[in-house]
Formats: sequence, C-alpha cells, structure tokens
Amino acid sequence: MGGGREDAPRQQLPINQFEDQILKTVASNSVMVIIGETGSGKTTQLPQILHRAGYSKKGIIAVTQPRRVAAVSVARRVAYEMGVHLGEEVGYSIRFEDRTSSRTSLKYLTDGCLLRECLLDPKLSQYAIIILDEAHERTLNTDILLGLLKCLLRKGEPHLKLVITSATLDGQRISKFFNACPVLTIPGKLFPVQILYSTERPVSCFESAIETAIEIHVREPPGDILLFMTGQEEIEKAISKLEEKIKDLEEGVCMDAILLPLHASLPPELQARVFDLSPSNCRRIIVATNVAETSLTVDGVVYVIDPGFVKQRHYNPSTGMDSLSVVQISRVQAIQRAGRAGRTCPGKCYRLYPSSVYEHEFLPETIPEIQRTSLAGTVLYLKSLELPDLDVLDFDFLDQPSRELLEDALRQLHIIEGIDNDGNITNLGKQMAELPLEPSLARALLAAEEMGCLSQALTVAGMLSCESIFHHNPSKTRTTKQKIEVKYELPTGNGMGDHVQLLQIYEEWCQSNYSLDWCNNRGLQRRSMKYAKDVRDQLAMIMKDKCESLKYSRVRMDSTVEDFRTLRKSLCKGFANRLAHRMTNHNGYRILCHQSQLVQIHPSVCPLEVDADGLLPEWVLYHELIATSRPYIRKVCVVDGNWIKSVLVELETIDIYRLSGKGSNQGSDQVSSLQCRANLETANCTQSEEGSL
Ligand code: CDP
Ligand code: MG
Repeated sequence: MGGGREDAPRQQLPINQFEDQILKTVASNSVMVIIGETGSGKTTQLPQILHRAGYSKKGIIAVTQPRRVAAVSVARRVAYEMGVHLGEEVGYSIRFEDRTSSRTSLKYLTDGCLLRECLLDPKLSQYAIIILDEAHERTLNTDILLGLLKCLLRKGEPHLKLVITSATLDGQRISKFFNACPVLTIPGKLFPVQILYSTERPVSCFESAIETAIEIHVREPPGDILLFMTGQEEIEKAISKLEEKIKDLEEGVCMDAILLPLHASLPPELQARVFDLSPSNCRRIIVATNVAETSLTVDGVVYVIDPGFVKQRHYNPSTGMDSLSVVQISRVQAIQRAGRAGRTCPGKCYRLYPSSVYEHEFLPETIPEIQRTSLAGTVLYLKSLELPDLDVLDFDFLDQPSRELLEDALRQLHIIEGIDNDGNITNLGKQMAELPLEPSLARALLAAEEMGCLSQALTVAGMLSCESIFHHNPSKTRTTKQKIEVKYELPTGNGMGDHVQLLQIYEEWCQSNYSLDWCNNRGLQRRSMKYAKDVRDQLAMIMKDKCESLKYSRVRMDSTVEDFRTLRKSLCKGFANRLAHRMTNHNGYRILCHQSQLVQIHPSVCPLEVDADGLLPEWVLYHELIATSRPYIRKVCVVDGNWIKSVLVELETIDIYRLSGKGSNQGSDQVSSLQCRANLETANCTQSEEGSL
C-alpha cells in the first residue's frame, strides 16, 4: 500500500490543532487528561499524533475501548488512514480475537483485554503509552484500570505514560484522582443544535419515534437522521416499520431513503456501511443503540431523534438478580445525543419528552457500572494480582462500589472455592482468574478437567458465550426474502436442560462438518455457531497450556448420557452459587443463595423432565437470574441433590466478617449462621407461602 492517506477533513479535526500542546504536556507529565467533544479525533488521531512523535519506538501505544465493535472499527479506520494492512502496524485485540503482530505499534484493545494483560505482565512493560479512551462511559473495566494504573504510576514506572480521554467526564475530578495532573480541553467545533421538546411523554415512544422520522424525511431539507433505540430487536422492528411507511409515501414527495441499523451484534461488514457517505439526493436513516452516542461517530447526521431511553443492566446484591431494563438516560447522555446533530452543519434534536422531564427526572450523570453490577469477577481479579498492601475492600476506585456489592462478591467467590474462609485467594481461584471467563464458568471448566469431561465443558462455555444462537422471531423481523424455514427439530437436551442441549447441538453441527445448511434448516445462526467454535478453540488452547491434557479438549462428537451426567456434575462446582430448589407442590423455585427470592423457569429454557405429577426436577442450576416481567432463571440445567450436599453445609457456615479479612466475629458469626439455617429450612416451606409467587 505505502504512504498514508491524507485528506483535508482529517487535518481539520479539532485535536490536530492541538498537536504541539499535547506533545509538550505528554513529554513532561506521566498522566494527562484530554476532554474533547465526540468526533474531535481523540480515538483516531491522538494515537497517530503520538506515533508520529516517535513514542512507538519506545513501546506499543495502546488505546482501550469499552466496546468490541468500536475497537475493531476504529483500528480498521486508522490502518486505512495510515495506509497499512490491519493487523500489522495497526492492530486490535478483543476477547478471543487477536489481530496484532510483532510489528504492531498502535494497538486498539478492549479495556477487558488490557486487564488480562496486566495479569501476565503487571508492569505493562511492552507499552510506552496507554490511552484510556472513552473514559466517560465508566465501564467496570475502565474503572478498574483507572485504579490499577494509578497504583502502577505511583510506584514510578518511568517507561509508562497514561492519557485519559473523555467526551464529557469531569476533567477536574479525574485530575484530582491522579494527583492534580494536567487537563487539556479541546474546544468543540459544534454547530448550533436546536432542541425541540415534546409537550408530553408520548403514549408509545416507538410509534412517536417512527412518525417523527417520517415527518423529518418528508418536510426537512437534506441531512441524515439518527434515531436512538434501546436494542437490536427494537431496531429491526423500527427498520421494517420505516420501510413500510416510506413505501406508502407518494412518489415524488421526498427523496430516496437508505435505512441502516447500527448495534453491537451486527456483522462487521454491515457496521462499516454507516461510515460510507450517503449518495447525493438520498437520505440515510440510521437506527442505532447508544453505541452511536459517543463510541462511533457517524458523519452527515443533521437530525437526531432521542426517545430518552437506554437499556441498562442492574444487579441487586440482596436478591442476586440482574435486571436488564429500559431506563431513562442521564442529562449527560441527552446532551451527547443532541451533539451528534451538529457535527457538519447546524442541526436539530427532537427530544420525545418534555423539558421538565429532562430537568427534573433525568439523573445528572449515568451511574457507573461498578455501582450496578456483580463484582465477583472484579474481586477475584484484584485478589489474583496479589499486590502487596492491596485490600480489595478499600481499593482506590474513582467511585466506590457499595459495601453490599463487595460482600456479595466475596460470598459468591467463597461458595465456588475461589477464596478461602479468610478471604484469601485459593490456588483454584488463581487458575480461575487466568481464564477469560466469568468466575463460575471458569470454575466449571477446571472441575470438568478434573472429572474428565473438558471437551464437553469447553463446548458449553463456547456456546454460552454467544448472545443467541437462534434466529429470534424470524417471521416478525426479517423480510420475506430472508425468512428462515425451520425443517428439522433440534436435539432435546434429554430433559436435562439447556447446557446438555447446547452440547448436543454443537456436536451435531460438528458431525455435519460445520455446515451452513445444517444451521439454516434448524433456525440457527451460523455466525453465532462459528463464534462459539472460535471461543471454544481459544479456550481449548488456553486450557492446553495450563493442563497439558489436550486429549479431552478435541471436540467429542459422541457424548453419552454418562458424559452429560459428568458435565452436569462439573457445572455444579462452578454454579454452586446459582442453585435453585423447587417448591414442594408446584413448579416455582427458590434461589439458594437468596432464600427470599422466588423465581420461575424462563419459557426459553428447553423442556425439562417432569415427574408423574407434572413437577419439574427438584434441583437446577442456572446461568442467569433476570427480572423482566417477573423474576426468571434462564439457561437452566438439572442437577442431583446428592452432588450439592457440601454446598448446603457451606452456605450454612459462611462468615462474612472473616471473608472480609477481619477475622472471626463470634457474635455476628452466630447470627449469620442462624440466619442461613433459617433460610435453608424455608426451602421446604409450606404451600401457603408458595402462593406468593
Ligand atoms: O474519538 P472521537 O469521538 O473524538 O473522534 P474519532 O472517533 O477519532 O472520529 C474522528 C473522525 O473520524 C470522525 O469524523 C469520524 O466520523 C471519523 N471516523 C470514520 O470515518 N470511521 C471510523 N471508523 C471512525 C471514525
Ligand atoms: Mg472516541
């Protein structure tokens, strides 16, 4: 290829006007903060500025991204700008996919990947500069990195420099966190954006968003429309609705429209389409999740439609329940969304809510992930670093998670044997932390290795890593041309649940030689199946390095009922913190770690065996406990009560004071153990209580 591509607009990106000032500040400081509007060139240009100044001669320049889709897309863009092949000078690394080489000097990687690298090389010695990008997203992993890098720099690592970039973050606050480091604010080159509020909340936000888009399309001068929706399903629904409506418009009323979805599970080649400029006399309508809020900048947008919602995960440590719910965005997010309309010329933002909602109901800022997620993985990770003088409960985070969340994490880790009675990491715990999986799944793999069913467990881990292997609602969301006809039934899981079914599906797919038709005929997404295979292959390699017992990790295609049984047993080890016990007389379940929580089996779970009275299995383990319309457990596997006796005893004697590293507290020890016993007894509760489900 040779030679970088030089085009005028790139030179004009605001950050490039600050090249000298940035280089001066970086040269004389180990940490600095750069605040700049989205689209000012932080992600694509800053690394190139540092590269041109010669920093990459001292080590790799790393740029962390909270989202995989952004890491890939931005690396591709920068490789193009520099005129090099992706994977050589410019590469990316995301979980289970490494496209870097020994020549890579600019490396985009997810924040999670950099955390994993810290495990192998706590000093990050191959890097000259770490750019913690998109820090305003405040993902859990970025927050951990902020704390860790602070530790590292305090110890004085002269080779390493840190640049934190953000679109909105309070620069002074983060500067204070880093010992009053310098903050550079890049003035935005934003054109004015007119904000139009609705007079009241619409009855249906979805319908109102569609109508607004059509109205803009019919009445307003050229310029692309960016419509924010909460998830893939809603986006697909919106696209087909818009298609319909636009077709109904009389010919000649308006220009042509191109409809483009943008969300994280879109295949990369389709994602790339939003960066192509629109053909003239044609309006693009981009329907996106909040990935378009700050991570990805789509040029050409003049109209933004903001319904004011986002899908957010929230973990409740007292019930162990995750809720993935649609919540109101924060004011910071609303401002970001509006800003997308003013990048190339004056724009308009249609807020589908009244200004009073914006003023009085929206939170000023988004709650950082660290305060609303289960911290079992984080706590295990920090413990596995075995940093001297690091007390996980007092770790220096930018925003502290609640005590309740931390204690919940300790309890979970103890039940799956990642930490001992005194809260110290066990050998098993260390091995778990080395696997790029959540602690429970990592523990299950290690157990499977010991019990001789690693092949099956690897397959299940791979299959659980995909969002969904099934084409959801094929008839509703696809156009007729793409409609998938399901010709054959899937294996049933022998009544033993989803994990066994996933294993059977994968093994049959292997036997078909990974055939596309095989997937299509069964309503499965080949892309997801391929992803499961890649993850499985990667995990098999990691396990091979660890355990030298590859003989089990080659895909077995002929698992027997006995294998399924061993697999379920090994899953019990990992998911000992996620067991559920059926009610005596009906099919509701009680969660073992949080006795007060009653749940039901989610309708998506494959049919489980029932006894003569129509009752489901007495004990199950689950992958997910999620509150949608009601509390459900999803991805469920049948287990035998005899396999979990020791867990029941363990639950009875757990002592959170000792786990927190504070030694035993006799008084409260009694309280907690009494309480647990009471909880266990309620597991065999009477029918009147069960009525409350
Ligand atoms: O990081 P920040 O939001 O400050 O800006 P950026 O992502 O570096 O984007 C700078 C410019 O590059 C914008 O005009 C983007 O539209 C463009 N870009 C692109 O065309 N293709 C990409 N894959 C990424 C960015
Ligand atoms: Mg950026």
